[in-house]
Amino acid sequence: MTATQVALIAIIAVAVLAALAAFSIASRRTESDWRAEMDGRALRSDRSRVPAAVAARPKPVVEEPPIQVAEVAEPVATQVVEIVAVEEVSPEEAGVTRRQFFNRATLVLFGTFSLTMGGGMLAFIWPTLKSGFGSDIDAGTVDEIRTQVFQADGSITPLFRPDARAYIVPITDEELSGSQFVDKSLAAGGFMALFQRCVHLGCRVPWCNTSQGFECPCHGSKYNYTGEYEAGPAPRNLDRFVVELRDGRFIIKTGQIIESPRAPEKTVAYPQGSSCIAIESAG
Ligand code: FES
Repeated sequence: MTATQVALIAIIAVAVLAALAAFSIASRRTESDWRAEMDGRALRSDRSRVPAAVAARPKPVVEEPPIQVAEVAEPVATQVVEIVAVEEVSPEEAGVTRRQFFNRATLVLFGTFSLTMGGGMLAFIWPTLKSGFGSDIDAGTVDEIRTQVFQADGSITPLFRPDARAYIVPITDEELSGSQFVDKSLAAGGFMALFQRCVHLGCRVPWCNTSQGFECPCHGSKYNYTGEYEAGPAPRNLDRFVVELRDGRFIIKTGQIIESPRAPEKTVAYPQGSSCIAIESAG
């Protein structure tokens, strides 16, 4: 499974988990006791004002003035006392509280954001699964490659495929039997595909025609034309792609990168001429 496929599965898993979490929280909120949504301080305040919290509907009480007698000189005032009662209502009557509204709005926003991000990432990754780097690249027929790689003077020039970020280099059956090429999926039709990236710090490694090898201009790592480490700070050989033949066409599976340690014995000689870089590489 390629790194792209793993990333895609991880994104889908995160989006599904986010959706499940949002749904779970929303369900619990809806089923929770409506009393828990009430403001505790307001409720206590109301209860302290009216001990009998559950009373009849508000009803003004008018105190009858006492019967006036001749001896009473002072006038008697009439006092009206209004009792405010708290009446319990059902969740249906109460409707949606402000807190519930904000909670649900937050969940909706979070869900929308997650879906948008997941969809965007999927759209970004999806094309690379079908074409381009990370997919299977058709580099042409073996005959076409052979014509471009082998030169009239006996030298070779690797065929560079920018879409695969790979150099196509020759390899004989004898060289293929070497210990580091035990994985036969690394060669097909007499060719291999080397990743262009230097295994030291990732610079693109150019081909040097005079030395018949790859020489990194960043820190001086050098590799022969089969990608085997020769000199410099690189910790291993150039990485290779899995390849195969389909109906006579050379397919580079750029989703599968194979690493290999420094080769104890080289399959081809290096250098075969002067070097292209002035950096003195140190092993
Ligand atoms: S990146 Fe190539 S030698 Fe450092």
